[in-house]
Amino acid sequence: MRKTIIVSNRLPVKISESNGEYNLQPSEGGLATGLGSIYREGNNIWVGWPGQEISDPKEQETVTKQLRKMNLLPVFLSQDEINNYYEGFSNETLWPVFHYMGVYARYDQGYWDAYYQVNKKFRDIILKIADPGDIIWIHDYQLLLLPGMLRAELPEISIGFFQHIPFPSFELFRLIPWRAEILEGMLGADLMGFHTFDDTRHFLNAVSRILPAQTSANVVSYNDRAIVVETFPMGIDFEKYSKLGSDPEVQKQMERLKENFQQEKLVLSIDRLDYSKGILQRLQAFELLLQLHPEYIGKVVLYMIVVPSRDTVPQYKDLRDEIDKLVGNINARFRTLAWHPIQYFYRSFPIETLSALYNFADICLVTPMRDGMNLVSKEYVASRNNNDGVLILSEMAGASKELIDALIVNPNNIGAITRSIVEAINMPKAEQERRMKAMRTVVAKFNVNHWVKLFMTRLREVNEMQQNMLAR
Ligand code: G6P
Repeated sequence: MRKTIIVSNRLPVKISESNGEYNLQPSEGGLATGLGSIYREGNNIWVGWPGQEISDPKEQETVTKQLRKMNLLPVFLSQDEINNYYEGFSNETLWPVFHYMGVYARYDQGYWDAYYQVNKKFRDIILKIADPGDIIWIHDYQLLLLPGMLRAELPEISIGFFQHIPFPSFELFRLIPWRAEILEGMLGADLMGFHTFDDTRHFLNAVSRILPAQTSANVVSYNDRAIVVETFPMGIDFEKYSKLGSDPEVQKQMERLKENFQQEKLVLSIDRLDYSKGILQRLQAFELLLQLHPEYIGKVVLYMIVVPSRDTVPQYKDLRDEIDKLVGNINARFRTLAWHPIQYFYRSFPIETLSALYNFADICLVTPMRDGMNLVSKEYVASRNNNDGVLILSEMAGASKELIDALIVNPNNIGAITRSIVEAINMPKAEQERRMKAMRTVVAKFNVNHWVKLFMTRLREVNEMQQNMLAR
């Protein structure tokens, strides 16, 4: 029977170790939820890295057995590969360039070699399980070479590729010394997907300027193959977030929030630690708010969660220190005996706590410098069953193309963010409702199941087209 193989750098699993034993928990990330209906079925499988170094062959065997029961197949990475492929080329070269932060990028031959080798490692593991009629769906920037590597071995197999982060304009992309190899790798797919029309356009533009390839509308002709490039904005599990509001644990936590913040308006901010998220600029905007509007002292609280991420990469470590410092300064400058302007948490929280916050917060402040999509903005909207609350959203997030009823801001314009917070605090209920209802319709309709179905249907159609071309 034809099977589907999902591939991503990280498996949808959280591993913890206690008393020398590994404990595996399925993760609740957006992609894992969306693809759950696929990889758990029949002999379908998800291939990826379990997220930490496991070097002992015996331990690898035990973990593999446990993972196989969950339809997951691990690719184990050595510490060296983690340093050079994951932290190095993926997160110190591709991540900054693709997020328009070229100055942060390191172009290191050793990083590139490791990236190439690890993509090959994924290829070899997939070759052992793939059969000619299978469908392979590869995800994200850590595996850009994999489609091409698989295509060379399996010319007729169906390969889809989706990039979850932005694709930058040609002028940025061309900075990467291995730009042609990267595009060649990506073009091994039959169908390429991006979150926004701009990402799609940037990719097509880079292909036509860097490779000897023809592009016509959204089809690339390369090496006697036609590759279809399309826009598929990713959604979330709307129902899950909408229903969580009535979960008893969520209700309990909301009661606690109500007791703690009786007088104050709550401005919520939730991100992974990342310089692309605009956390420092957001803090500056909040500081400016308190400076320009002393009437809000004691009346507004910024509730800021930063989820630890990649903190072995130098820029992330530095960012964490800068956030600590700025939060400390603002709290020291404006606090009163009874009130702290910023409640800052550097850790992750269970989904029930996030849901309670989404339900309780008057304003959700999402101001990334660049973001492929940004699912926090959609989770906030999906949680607002009462149709109130205000979303302030960066125009640099993919989500701003869909959530046009948010207050849209340029994240570099600190004054504009401050003004948006003031506007949000004073927004009449009727306007909140009009905007929130419109956004909820979009998030409910274009949910993650819709996204998966659309991509998979398109992939099948494109594969049939390829087969017909080959038969001619
Ligand atoms: C972004 C990327 C994902 C990545 C996630 C978490 O959403 O698009 O590919 O998995 O960040 O980052 P991490 O480095 O912890 O996997």
